[in-house]
Amino acid sequence: MLRTIPSKSQKILESAKDIELIHWNEGNVIPREKLLELAKGVDGILCMLTEKIDSELLDAAGPNLKVVSTLSVGYDHVDLNELRKRSIPLGYTPGVLTDATADITVMLVLASARRMREGIRAVENGRWCKWDPTWMLGTQLTNKTIGIVGLGRIGSATALRLKPFIGNEGKIIYSSRTEKSEAASIGAIKVEFDVLLRDSDVICICCAMNEETNEMFNYEVFKKMKKNVVLVNTARGKIIRQEDLCRALSEGMLGSVGLDVCTPEPLDQKDPLLKFDRVTVIPHIGSATLETRTLMGNIAVKNVLSGVRGEPLPHSVK
Ligand code: DGY
Repeated sequence: MLRTIPSKSQKILESAKDIELIHWNEGNVIPREKLLELAKGVDGILCMLTEKIDSELLDAAGPNLKVVSTLSVGYDHVDLNELRKRSIPLGYTPGVLTDATADITVMLVLASARRMREGIRAVENGRWCKWDPTWMLGTQLTNKTIGIVGLGRIGSATALRLKPFIGNEGKIIYSSRTEKSEAASIGAIKVEFDVLLRDSDVICICCAMNEETNEMFNYEVFKKMKKNVVLVNTARGKIIRQEDLCRALSEGMLGSVGLDVCTPEPLDQKDPLLKFDRVTVIPHIGSATLETRTLMGNIAVKNVLSGVRGEPLPHSVK
């Protein structure tokens, strides 16, 4: 196991008498060399999204390896093809982080639309002048169009949460490779990606990271958005081409941006992105509640235990 996980989940693993546990609990990401060394001969790996699971690691682990279990719903850090070649199942943690991540998406939408970072900075830096009718004016969500990119579990939960903010005159549109059956009950309308870019006042990136979505948001795409759009990404940093985002912001495009994910993570304090007042960056904490991380930990532990015991995983990537 490659990190300390919430104590309830950790106890389940520690109380498994048929398991010899090798535990990296130094409180940081395991250095690659150490990982390659510790992986030798193991039956299962319980990893985080911070570990690259590729052929080098799988080779280092060797033929005993029966399962990889990631404590995350995203698995872009895992080379699925390499796992498939070796018939090794991948466990992941779908469903349980939907609410926490949708909550933080809404938080970033509101914080960005209402210029929360600028406001807090003004208070802390002594720039809070007397109440002023034209100071710190943000964007209101009432009657606005929300565009959701990827209406999966998190996208749908985000749309449902944002509905009351936009009221009856507001609209929810989404873009996705497939029609989503849940869209009707949410009242979300499927549109082409370019239409979503053109019409949305708020865009929430809630899709999975894959070859198709890698740098899907680039300069050409930013040019198609409304000038005052609120753009929020709680999926994966690489879905946005970050240097293009900086260029677009410096050219006055986009209203405000809220990011729970970026490239790289952690972001350097001197990263050009942080100099824009209208960008709010938080440190990939979408699923960071005790409740959610415990549920994720429990699933990840059950997946790895099932795998090493030769049983089907409760939650495996198809
Ligand atoms: C995941 O599980 O993929 C999330 O990004 C963690 O918050």
